[in-house]
Amino acid sequence: MSFPQRRLRRLRRTPTLRRLVAETRVAVDDLVAPLFVREGIDEPQPIRSLPGVVQHTRDSLRKEVRELVSLGIPAAILFGVPARKDAQGSAAWDPDGIVQVALGDLRDEVGDDLVLITDLCLDEYTDHGHCGVLDGAGQVDNDATLELYAEVALAQAGAGADIVAPSGMMDGQVAAIRDALDDAGHHTVAILAYAAKFASALYGPFRDAVDVTIADGGDRRGYQQDPANAREALEEIRLDVLEGADMVMVKPAVPYLDVICRARAEIDLPIAAYHVSGEYSMIKAAGANGWIDATAVALEQLLAIRRAGADLVLTYFAREIAEELAD
Ligand code: PBG
Repeated sequence: MSFPQRRLRRLRRTPTLRRLVAETRVAVDDLVAPLFVREGIDEPQPIRSLPGVVQHTRDSLRKEVRELVSLGIPAAILFGVPARKDAQGSAAWDPDGIVQVALGDLRDEVGDDLVLITDLCLDEYTDHGHCGVLDGAGQVDNDATLELYAEVALAQAGAGADIVAPSGMMDGQVAAIRDALDDAGHHTVAILAYAAKFASALYGPFRDAVDVTIADGGDRRGYQQDPANAREALEEIRLDVLEGADMVMVKPAVPYLDVICRARAEIDLPIAAYHVSGEYSMIKAAGANGWIDATAVALEQLLAIRRAGADLVLTYFAREIAEELAD
């Protein structure tokens, strides 16, 4: 007996058929736009290694979020570039610090039409560029840093953040922040944990965006994860869920699709993926050279991230892709 030849191409014949059977989609509803706001500037500043992305003034940030809302983008994550840095990173929890005042502006501008997420870390604010405070030996002191993260969480929640997103990879950071928020009555403020964050060379352009140089040629390998380790990433994710994370994140995205996929198989909370600065810049650079179609490659990568199992994607392409999808 012979079997009829299986013909899988039948369902690929027309765009409408393909649309009908598509398993995964990229929708504007899943995009989170990263935004930079810099203290003490009068004009938005371009970022050399992130073409099309700027350090905003308070005013240009207001305008940008109005446009994001009109495009249907549901959320933004805010990063601050302070005018002065110190050893502790105290501008991070100063009620008059740049992110706190920008949060007030944005709430005033868009109400609840945009979910306001704040990156919760110290590296933009410390003069040595590490994500925490240093001990006498120049190492990042985990538990002393947790106390400062709690202060930052309170400042951000007090200024109106809907979601705080700790990105420093200190042990116990989610529990410490949850405790601090709850003790202060901020029960409704959610935590998006940068749970599996790898020590990646793809963060280079971001450090231009926030004017961070790690002192003495240092790196973050003592706290961010080794790119070699996927099982350990799952441990990080499980721990953050136990500590009270409302959502977990894998970062970067495309080189770590295996981690997203394994996390999806095990975790039923929303999973976010951060398509990071270097992932954006590589596509932009190749596009500018005419070597690839940048928009098509961006869409393909975002689709891959969704296919791997991420619910939301933080991406510098958010606005561009929202415009593309609206056409
Ligand atoms: C730390 C933080 C970083 C990024 C997001 N939060 C930088 C780092 O860990 O060095 C990188 C994001 C990107 O590359 O787009 N506050």
